[in-house]
Amino acid sequence: MRFIFFLTLSLTLPSESYLIKPKYVLDVVTGQLTKLEVKVEDGIISEIGINLTSNGSEVLSLPNTIIMPGFIDTHVHLIGNNELNGYESVGESSYLATLYGVKNAEATLLAGFTTVRNVGASNYTDVALKSAINRGVIAGPRMYVSGPPLGITGGHCDNNLMPYERSRPNQGVVDSPWQARQKVRENRKFGADLIKFCATGGVMSKNTDVNAKQFTYEEMKAIVDEAHNHGMRVAAHAHGLEGIRTALLAGVDSIEHSSFINEEVTLLAIQNGAFLSMDIYVSDYILGEGAKKGILEESLEKERKVGLEQRKNFKKAVELGAKITFGTDAGIYKHGENAKQFAYMVEWGMSPLQAIQAATITGSELIGNNNLGKIKVGYVADIVGVNSNPLKDIRVLEDVSFVMKEGTVFKSQ
Ligand code: ARG
Repeated sequence: MRFIFFLTLSLTLPSESYLIKPKYVLDVVTGQLTKLEVKVEDGIISEIGINLTSNGSEVLSLPNTIIMPGFIDTHVHLIGNNELNGYESVGESSYLATLYGVKNAEATLLAGFTTVRNVGASNYTDVALKSAINRGVIAGPRMYVSGPPLGITGGHCDNNLMPYERSRPNQGVVDSPWQARQKVRENRKFGADLIKFCATGGVMSKNTDVNAKQFTYEEMKAIVDEAHNHGMRVAAHAHGLEGIRTALLAGVDSIEHSSFINEEVTLLAIQNGAFLSMDIYVSDYILGEGAKKGILEESLEKERKVGLEQRKNFKKAVELGAKITFGTDAGIYKHGENAKQFAYMVEWGMSPLQAIQAATITGSELIGNNNLGKIKVGYVADIVGVNSNPLKDIRVLEDVSFVMKEGTVFKSQ
């Protein structure tokens, strides 16, 4: 008789009840480190206090570990092999890309990112990956997914690599308000949680200008109106100022990248309650590794103009008090290295606590899930731990020793 062991079996078991006894709990609201115990039942934080009784729950003794809420990355691309760039990428099938997604999702979770927004994937492969994670078939973060991102013909969210006779528009390409509404409806129908669209050109796309606005105000307004009508949030990819401004006027919930944002438009974002998701680490990767990894020279050229300006504008946005989430664009670089961005956020003006808040409280606010981002009774038990104080050295977050998602332990060293 042959036995087949499923390595992932443990993932499908219902989560246990635990009494976690860490060194300290980091309160991400106040920055206080307190000696507390945390009880987790059915995936939810049920009690916080001292000298709690275990009452049959398993005691997780973590005497060297400081615990905090699991991290939220508001801008990732889990689907696909991140090593493929430019023309290499057009040969990857959706099936293969999704299998890479399985591996990428696991790496992301084990790095302490218990929730992500996946902003852009074709064929609803993101919906499939999310379903497999939710069913406990594979290990990965809680995913909020957009499906195919909306964009104009020839824009950043189209595929511009092929000549006319070999070209097919990307699935989210639309060129009028009504086409845009239809696409929002279609994305919702097939399982998208949020809508992503491209409001300007981009770095990694061929023949697009990061400063050029893509979509008219009317088109953006139609997207936002339709999405909000269905209770879906809207994320706009935008580097150039006019695209950012127009997207904000149209009512988007977040601006992704926000590279050339100025003071006036940052204030507009604040006034509108919109979030900025600024991927200020990835530039070092693109300029450092990009040429070796096959990123098109055209993209490297654009990145040289974007990277530093984006960091300076991030700093100003921090000073102005903008709501900034932790969004990395992991997928351009290796999944699981998301936390590298923390140190950049601190270098460019945030306190370590503010950087952690961006990846917890602010991320949950943008996603619209009020039960994530804090270690608090009634909240989802997404908990990560490190073995020294991140408020003293933020880089310790690059190496988490403990990961729990919804009451299931995925890593404990
Ligand atoms: N996906 C983005 C684009 O292609 C990446 C931008 C990366 N650069 C940066 N400095 N954030 O436009």
